[in-house]
Amino acid sequence: MNFRFFPWTQPTNYGHLFLGLDTRVPLAAGGSVPGINFDNGATTPPFLSVLEEINRFAPLYGSVHRGAGYKSVVSSQIYEQARTEVLKFVGGDSRTDVVIFVKNTTEAINKLANHLWNKNKKEVILTTWMEHHSNLLPWREKFHLDYIEIDEQGRLRMDDLRAKLERYQGAVKLVTVTGASNVTGHRNPIHKIAELSHRYGAKICVDGAQLVPHAPVDMRPSHSIEHIDFLAFSAHKMYAPFGTGVLIGPRAFFEQGAPDYQGGGTARMVTPDRVLWYDAPGKEEAGTPNLMGVVALVAAVRTLSAIGMKKVLQHEEGLLGYAYEQLRWMEGITFYGGIPLNQQQLSQRIGVISFNVEGLFHEDVAEYLAKEGGISVRNGCFCAQPYVQRLLHISKQEMEYHMANPSLPHPGMVRASLALYNTKAEIDSFLDVLGRIVSSRPRIFRSLRTGN
Ligand code: ALA
Repeated sequence: MNFRFFPWTQPTNYGHLFLGLDTRVPLAAGGSVPGINFDNGATTPPFLSVLEEINRFAPLYGSVHRGAGYKSVVSSQIYEQARTEVLKFVGGDSRTDVVIFVKNTTEAINKLANHLWNKNKKEVILTTWMEHHSNLLPWREKFHLDYIEIDEQGRLRMDDLRAKLERYQGAVKLVTVTGASNVTGHRNPIHKIAELSHRYGAKICVDGAQLVPHAPVDMRPSHSIEHIDFLAFSAHKMYAPFGTGVLIGPRAFFEQGAPDYQGGGTARMVTPDRVLWYDAPGKEEAGTPNLMGVVALVAAVRTLSAIGMKKVLQHEEGLLGYAYEQLRWMEGITFYGGIPLNQQQLSQRIGVISFNVEGLFHEDVAEYLAKEGGISVRNGCFCAQPYVQRLLHISKQEMEYHMANPSLPHPGMVRASLALYNTKAEIDSFLDVLGRIVSSRPRIFRSLRTGN
């Protein structure tokens, strides 16, 4: 095949920056192969630099903001300095924005929901059909939630965002969108969404869990109409799996009211019946902070910055293009989110490929990839059930049936999600095993059912 949809790029190999890529995994036929991890949307392996930094820093580890001893002072300095580095990495505004360290994106969004909640009336929040549960469930009970529509390929419909902002006539408090989908890989035009939301008096929150590790993110200055008001992301999806997440937002906003979690570290003064809270961010970080997690995150931020997020994006886009170049010709596979047809469409994606093989259950395909090729993918609904139901055209009635019978096999898809360290050779192996699955479907189906 001479015709190429995407320009061919010479790949860089980033594998040497990671630990564990050569770990062998067992195959069904016996023996083992170095595992291929295409489940980076769920979590990522650690950078070597992260592990080295943890080891280097560990002898100095001490209590953050709670001691006068040398280690405590050094630990507190490192912890505070981390906020500056993290903010810079995503282009936050150091004059107005504050970095709050949390556990992960889910906790970050729950915290934001708790803070925005007006207990006296249900205010309007716009979310989208593309979200994973962490950007849906925290809002549902506390707000009147409306969903911005998607098109046939699962892309956000900007015309519907505009229509909804218009319809609510300035009553929308927040528009909360994913930066990139963990199901289809579609990236949202976050600055356009910010501009539109601001014109209607709404703030914007970007769920950056799938975007920040894979593309440059720039929150822009707070006076800009394109400024991202709130950004949430997780360190474990960006090669620092030590339990830290980030919520960024205006300091002034987090100064208001009481913290959602209360206890050690949040209060300047406490009497038996009164409390004087610390300023943000301290007041939002109850309990002893996860300093090791923050050290890990900063090490990852430094490594990603040294590579350059544009190069990260370019590399992963190259892999995605390379995969689709061949996947598009495979028969018997349904891809969700549409197949990118040109460079412009490719550049609106992160490296996620979700699909089903005709006649096979998603779980069986995932298992086959693992047992025959040592390839890890995720299958199911990826904690984004409403979006997956839409893409699979599952009716409300059908879902009611599944809700009533939760032990039945769930509808779903198979997902390969790529990251910085993946290679074209790994994609070749994936294509090879997938090709085998497609060409011997009936036999595989039978053997999966009967074990023969
Ligand atoms: N972490 C979830 C995933 O696998 C949302 O995409």
